[in-house]
Amino acid sequence: MPCAAATLWRAAGPGVALRLLGQAEVRPDFVSPAEEAALARELEPQLRRRHYQFDHWDGAIHGFRETEKSHWSAECQQILERVRAAALPPNIPHLGPVHVLDLDKNGYIKPHVDSVKFCGCTIAGLSLLSASVMRLVSEENPEDWLDMLLPPCSLYILRGPARYNFTHQILRDEDSFFNGQRVPRKRRISLICRSLPLPP
Ligand code: OGA
Ligand code: MN
Repeated sequence: MPCAAATLWRAAGPGVALRLLGQAEVRPDFVSPAEEAALARELEPQLRRRHYQFDHWDGAIHGFRETEKSHWSAECQQILERVRAAALPPNIPHLGPVHVLDLDKNGYIKPHVDSVKFCGCTIAGLSLLSASVMRLVSEENPEDWLDMLLPPCSLYILRGPARYNFTHQILRDEDSFFNGQRVPRKRRISLICRSLPLPP
């Protein structure tokens, strides 16, 4: 784990840290503030047409609007290629459209595991606009957890066990602390790239 990233990663203990090392990763400053602005600018017209949804009683996500985007400007396409090259395993098909999730400042994501029907072994997300805390909790033993601080402009990657055997969530503003430090949650946009499940 590079030193800069170690300050973004906090595990319940050495056992869970060893299990998740290299499987759950944060790369700060993966995009520049100018690239972040370009992505946000390009997404804004498409997002603005939708309303934030708050009342989904059974859904994992609250206070959000979302879209899928396949066509990007050359500048943004290049950034997304960089994400895929850095995060997704080579020679494995990935979902073409990018999943864009816009969380209101009061929005949050409850613990869940992405459906194995739609998503393969790797999930990679760019976090824009606001810092947030992503918490992973072992499905086997809830005392095994990992918190990752996701600064704006960072990329996170969940692979293998981090993707299949741990739930992930984005903490709501009231609960948004990392290592005892408050991490105010403002509006946050994430761009999520996923590998596809392999055929049986
Ligand atoms: C999801 C999810 C995380 C994020 O949409 O399944 O977990 O970074 N999103 O927005
Ligand atoms: Mn998810």
